[in-house]
Amino acid sequence: MRRIRIHGHSGLSTIIVGGALGTLGSYAPLHNTVVITDANVRRHHRHAYPPCAVIEISAGEQAKTLDTVKDICLQLMDMGADRSSFLVGIGGGVVCDITGFVASIYMRGLRFGLIPTTLLAQVDAAIGGKNGVNLDGYKNMVGVFNQPRFVLCDLSLLGTLPKRDLLSGFSEIVKHALIRDAELFSYVEANSERGLSLDPESMERLLYDSLVIKSSIVGRDEMEKDERRLLNFGHTFGHAVEKVSGMSHGEAVSIGMGMASRVSEAMGYLGAEDVQRIEALLIKLGLPVRLDAISERVFDAMRRDKKRRGEGIHFVLLKGVGQGFVKEMLIQELEEAI
Ligand SMILES: NC(=O)c1ccc[n+]([C@@H]2O[C@H](COP(=O)([O-])OP(=O)(O)OC[C@H]3O[C@@H](n4cnc5c(N)ncnc54)[C@H](O)[C@@H]3O)[C@@H](O)[C@H]2O)c1
Repeated sequence: MRRIRIHGHSGLSTIIVGGALGTLGSYAPLHNTVVITDANVRRHHRHAYPPCAVIEISAGEQAKTLDTVKDICLQLMDMGADRSSFLVGIGGGVVCDITGFVASIYMRGLRFGLIPTTLLAQVDAAIGGKNGVNLDGYKNMVGVFNQPRFVLCDLSLLGTLPKRDLLSGFSEIVKHALIRDAELFSYVEANSERGLSLDPESMERLLYDSLVIKSSIVGRDEMEKDERRLLNFGHTFGHAVEKVSGMSHGEAVSIGMGMASRVSEAMGYLGAEDVQRIEALLIKLGLPVRLDAISERVFDAMRRDKKRRGEGIHFVLLKGVGQGFVKEMLIQELEEAI
């Protein structure tokens, strides 16, 4: 078991890598804790849940709405939850994002912790203090920055995860390696089979190294004014691909990373052999790297997104494996490069 700490504006957040769901009582006052979880996760892991009140939401991205937030708040009121209560989210990125948001607004703020149950949530969504929900189909439009007291990563929970969800998490591990850690990239290349079969030693190393990258970036730029933008590598294209194709987040980010690598090459920053190496690893993991017919719709989705947000595109490029950097670009420049 290893620990990583993030000092955020709302306090200290401790990430426990290799902890166990059954030890929750060491981190939260069980008599005063309400668990928020989804139906799938509860079905698979209810035997390990602590003896606490539970609020269950339906599984999947469509539950990530203000309606669900309202419903949870009403249930908390019925239970008599107050400022001394502690919320714990047990679930994937959706449950973690919602739990952090509810904990930030219910009675102006409760303490909360997260037990992420997907690899994507362990490696990314539960870490860094971004909490929120979608609005009218637009991702994460309503939310807050607020660090959980703890994030307990229990690798054994991943055993029940469908393969497609496991791959989503690998996509984010590759992202972390590509922006900051060439050695981690080589490790994934050499150990992808062991990782995909959830070999505990490989998984702990992959998770820990990946979390060191994310948490150190968040520690330096919690509010995403500068360096944290690096974590969006592959996501500018990825979000648009997710929207127009219905692919999973991880698949769409993988395609986004392939596209961003090729833009980096077209602009003279990245060598062709590095692009081949990146694509080869993503393909070896079973992730897609290219889109054929719908690239026009991807750019349309990016244009709509940019108009709505009213901000320039801070696009993340690579100078090499492990060397990400941010450049302000126009969508037209991206289109020409692609
Ligand atoms: N806050 C952040 O910084 C951040 C970062 C990345 C992604 N996200 C968000 O995370 C969400 C995606 O997360 P996700 O991929 O975990 O999605 P998810 O929470 O929808 O989980 C995916 C599916 O796996 C099921 N599941 C979860 N754990 C399981 C387990 N152990 N065994 C079997 N089934 C299990 C869930 O019920 C769900 O059906 C998106 O909403 C995204 O916006 C947030």
